[in-house]
Amino acid sequence: MAKIICIHSYRGGTGKSNTTANLAALIAREGNRVGIIDTDLPSPGIHILFGLGDNQPEHTLNQFLWKKGKITEAAYDVSHVLEGQGNQKSKIYLVPASVKVNDISRILREGFDTELLFEGYHQLIKHLKLDYLFIDTHPGLNEETLLSLTAAQIVLFILRPDQQDFQGTAVTVDVARRLKVPNLYLIINKALPEYNFEQMRQTVEATYKAPVLGILPDSSDMLRLASKGIFAIKYNKHPISQVLQKMAKQITDSTVKI
Ligand SMILES: Nc1ncnc2c1ncn2[C@@H]1O[C@H](COP(=O)(O)OP(=O)(O)O)[C@@H](O)[C@H]1O
Ligand SMILES: [Mg+2]
Repeated sequence: MAKIICIHSYRGGTGKSNTTANLAALIAREGNRVGIIDTDLPSPGIHILFGLGDNQPEHTLNQFLWKKGKITEAAYDVSHVLEGQGNQKSKIYLVPASVKVNDISRILREGFDTELLFEGYHQLIKHLKLDYLFIDTHPGLNEETLLSLTAAQIVLFILRPDQQDFQGTAVTVDVARRLKVPNLYLIINKALPEYNFEQMRQTVEATYKAPVLGILPDSSDMLRLASKGIFAIKYNKHPISQVLQKMAKQITDSTVKI
C-alpha cells in the first residue's frame, strides 16, 4: 500500500522541488522505497537536485505520456543522494521530465493526458514496490495539475509569507476543496527569521482552515547549496533539516492509505 503525496504552489520559485527532494530523501532514509515524478513538464528541474542535470536523461516522463516508452524505463535509481545514510531497504527513484526545447514546446501546445499519468503512478508503485510516491508539480491553476491533485492522498501546498502568495493560495485552496482533495496541508517557506513563527502559523491556519505542517526560514545556507544536492542529508543537524525531519515524520505517521 503506497501513499501518493503531491506538492503544489500557486507561484513558481516557492520551493516545491527542494521540499519534495528533501522530504522524499528523509523518508527513504528511514528505510522506505520512494519514487518522485517530475510533472512540472513546462519547467522541469528536480532532476538537478539528484545529479541528473549534466546530461539530458535518455528516458523521461514525456516519452511515457506520448506512448513511446514505459514509465519504469524512465525511473532512475538516485539512492546515491543518501550518501550512505539509511538502511538496506532505503531507495529513491526519480522519473525526470524532458528539458529538450521541442518537448517542452509540445507540452505547452498540446498539454498531456492526465488519465495516462495516473496510470503511470500506479504502474510505478507496483513495479518498484514503492511505499511513497512524490509528485512535483507545475505551479498555478492549470487544469492538468489541479486534476493531478485528486490522485493524491496527501497534498502539500507551499506558500511564502507574501501578499501575492497569500491571495493565490486562497484561490487554489478553494479550488482544491471543491475538487475534494483530501488531507491538504500547508508549508510556509522562506519565512524571514525575525518573524514570529507561531503567530504566522496561527494566522495562516485560521485564514485557509488547513493545518500548517511546518515553517521553513529563508536561509542563505539553503541558497548557497544552489540545488546541488539534498540539504537535509548534507546538513543533518541544521535547524532547517530538523524542521524537514519533523514534516517527514508527520507524513509517515499519517494513517491515510490508498
Ligand atoms: N528556505 C529557503 N531559503 C532560501 N532559499 C530557498 C529556500 N527554499 C528554496 N530556496 C531556493 O529557491 C529557489 C527555488 O526553489 P525550487 O525548489 O526550485 O522552487 P519551485 O520548485 O517551487 O520552483 C532555489 O534556488 C532554492 O535553492
Ligand atoms: Mg520546481
